[in-house]
Formats: sequence, C-alpha cells, structure tokens
Amino acid sequence: GPTASFIVVANRLPVDRVELPDGTTDWRTSPGGLVTALEPVMRAKHGAWVGWVGSPDETHDPFVEDGLQLVPVTLSAQEVRDYYEGFSNGTLWPLYHDVVAHPEFHREWWDAYVTVNQRFADRTAEVAEQNAVVWVQDYQLQLVPQMLRTQRPDLRIGFFLHIPFPPMELYQQLPWRNQIIEGLLGADLVGFQLPGGAQNFVRLVRQRLKYETQRDTVRLPDGRKVLARAYPISIDTEGFNKLAARPETAARAAEIRHHLGDPKTVFLGIDRLDYTKGIMQRIRAFGELVRDGLLDPEDCVFVQVATPSRERVDQYRLLRDDIDRLVGRLNGDIGRIGRPPITYLHSSYPREEMAALYLAADVMVVTPLRDGMNLVAKEYIACRQADDGALVLSEFAGAAKELRQAYMVNPYDINGLKDRMMEAMHDSDRAKSRRMRVMRRQVAEHNIDRWAQLFLDDLQATRP
Ligand code: G6P
Repeated sequence: GPTASFIVVANRLPVDRVELPDGTTDWRTSPGGLVTALEPVMRAKHGAWVGWVGSPDETHDPFVEDGLQLVPVTLSAQEVRDYYEGFSNGTLWPLYHDVVAHPEFHREWWDAYVTVNQRFADRTAEVAEQNAVVWVQDYQLQLVPQMLRTQRPDLRIGFFLHIPFPPMELYQQLPWRNQIIEGLLGADLVGFQLPGGAQNFVRLVRQRLKYETQRDTVRLPDGRKVLARAYPISIDTEGFNKLAARPETAARAAEIRHHLGDPKTVFLGIDRLDYTKGIMQRIRAFGELVRDGLLDPEDCVFVQVATPSRERVDQYRLLRDDIDRLVGRLNGDIGRIGRPPITYLHSSYPREEMAALYLAADVMVVTPLRDGMNLVAKEYIACRQADDGALVLSEFAGAAKELRQAYMVNPYDINGLKDRMMEAMHDSDRAKSRRMRVMRRQVAEHNIDRWAQLFLDDLQATRP
C-alpha cells in the first residue's frame, strides 16, 4: 500500500460518501470546521489523510480524490453507534463543551472508543514512513498518540484538539479521565485553540497524574517532554477573498436578497445543527424584536442555515424538533403571505453559495454557548471586502479572543443579545467599517497556512 512522510489522522476523511436520489453514490465535502481548515493544508503538503468515509461498513482501498491521498478506516454499524454517536458525541462532545447538554457515560461506548482508536493507530503505523510526521486531530482520537508511539517510537507525533478543553472540575466526571490524558501525552506536542485549554490540560496532568509540569511543558516519568500550547485555528482567507470577489458571487448575493423580498436588513446564521451553537437563542431574540416592534418584518429577515449533523443522536433530534417548532410558530405569528420573516434551511451548501450568503448578509449572528473557535465568523469577515456588514459574536466562541471588534454578546442573556443585534443593525457605516477593517486584517494575517506552519514548526523543534 501507499506510504507517506506526512500524515493527518482524523475521524473523518475530507470527503463523505453520500447516496444520490438515483441510488448511485458520490463524494461530497465533509461537514464541519476541521475539514474546512485542514483541506488546504493537506493540498499544500501532499501528505496522506487517514480517516473514516462517513458511513458504516464501507471498506475501501486507499484512493486519490481531487489530488488528496486518502486512507479509509472502516467502522461497523455498531462502532458507529458506540464510538462515533456514543462516546465521541454523546459523552465527549457535551463534556468538553461545558456540559451544555448532559454527557452520558457508558462502558460499552468506552470499549468501542478504545477499539476504534487502536484501529486508527494501526492503520497509521502501516502508512507512516520511517521518522514520519503524524498529526492526529480532535476528540474522537485522543488515544491514538500513545497507541502509535508504542508501535512506532520513531514517529514525530502532534495532536490538535479542535474543540474546547474543559476546566478540571468538569473533566473529573469522566470515568476514563486518566486513560485519555495518558493517550494525549503520547504526542510530542498537544495543541489547543486557546491558552486556557492548554492551561486546563497541564493543570489536570499535574493534579491527576502527579507528573512534573512547568508552564507549557510536561515531563513524563521516563524523561520525555510533552508541550501543550495554543494555536488558534483559521481559514483559507485568500480563497474566501477570491470567491467573494467573483462577479458570480455578487450576482448570486443580489439574487438571494431579491428572493428574500429585497429587505433592508438581512440577518444570517450558519451552523451545523448543534445544541452548542445557540440557534434557539438567536431566533428567539429576533422573534422578540419583531414582536416588540423594534424590527419591522416588512424590511428585516433572518436566514438560518442549519447543516444536518449527527442526526441519530437523541439530543440532536430533540434540538431539530425544537427549532422546527420555534421557527414555525414565529413565522405563523409574525409572517404574512409571501413574507416569512425567518427563512430556515436544514441543508448543507457548497462554498460558493456560502460566500454569496455572507455577501448578502448585513448582520451575521454567531451565538454559540461554547465553541472551540467558530470558523463561520472568520469566513464572514474574509468575504466582506467592502469593509461593510456587522458581526454579532458570542464571547464563548474561541474566535472572540481574536475578533475583538465584533458586537460581543453573552448568548444566555436574551435582552443583551437583542440590544447587540439592534446596535449592529443601526450603527453608522463608518463605525461598522472601522470594526470590520481591524477584523479583516486579523483574519488576513492569521490564515490557515500560518496556523499549520506554527504548529508544525513547533512540532519539528520538540526533539532532535
Ligand atoms: C466539529 C468537530 C469535528 C467534526 C465536525 C463535524 O468541527 O470538531 O471533529 O468532524 O464538527 O461533525 P461530524 O460529527 O459530522 O464529523
């Protein structure tokens, strides 16, 4: 089989196998921030990508798709339930996002997590050339660094967590807390979105495992050192800039506004349909503003795109029902013929359409209750080449640490959220463009190439 000297290991491959209406199958870009961020990195580095194709029981030989070398890992239907929907998204996801939903702890889920992590490690060990650099991604694969090191001490191993790393007080709930920390410590460098996450991790290592730590460094009993540092992830800023500059994109944005009834103000939300994203809060805020008479539904609309995600996990189903009901009720209460104030799309769109939506939006509303980074906020900024538009941003998104000129909100505070949405809408063009210019510079300078370079340079420097 193929081998490589640079390997990314992630739960998902960058493409997803999807069934088309005519019964044939095709590949589609996978959902979520991880793939958005890493795809351009992999194109530049010509590495191999080890991951799952996104549906159960699919076995595939390694293949090349759109210039990327892909190495599929197979998951059985039971493993999809226990490892992916269960431990990854029913236990770790809510636990790491401040327990905004209740994490469930099941021993069978943990067992599947161990089995599947071992499979990813084995597959990677087969593909990795001598002294290769391996970069393991995200919460689904936290045991892989240690499993890989046991088999292949020659490898240089990095790990990056795309989601928040919670405070120790929450982390302690996890029955398998020590195993996961040990799993991560198999890496030479463990990367987090924010310095706070790295500090939470180092503190946990010191308190639970009693290893010696000093600022961002852990020293293991065998003398090996592990670094824990923050690398805020970003986007392909140039790519979005170019997309936004295309006449087709501007034309499509105008068309979207026209379809919406040529309103004065378009509010926009784009998220995976996930309970961490604060979708209910922002729609409720919009509905109240209309009801209060502060927004006129004749000239203000809200467009919410919610990309289908983890649809077989209970909490995601319940959220979908809640959103359906809320949007239906509000449109019933405040809409009129041909003019629903809320346009709700439960669907995923290609980058071109996303860019047009960003261009069409006067106010982008990003209100997660907790979010590792939030790349949608950065994509919106990257598309606003005229320095116009406004970003309402939750202080609980990692992006808030960098995009400080956004209209910042606590999404739990519905009145505050309403005030900020109004302010973002009514502020003068000058005030908005002053904010936008600073944020555009930030996103231009800290693009995804720079993120990968910083991480990989540090990984290279960890040991001779
Ligand atoms: C987030 C996670 C990724 C995940 C993505 C999509 O961005 O950090 O690891 O791939 O969501 O979720 P999914 O469960 O569909 O892979």
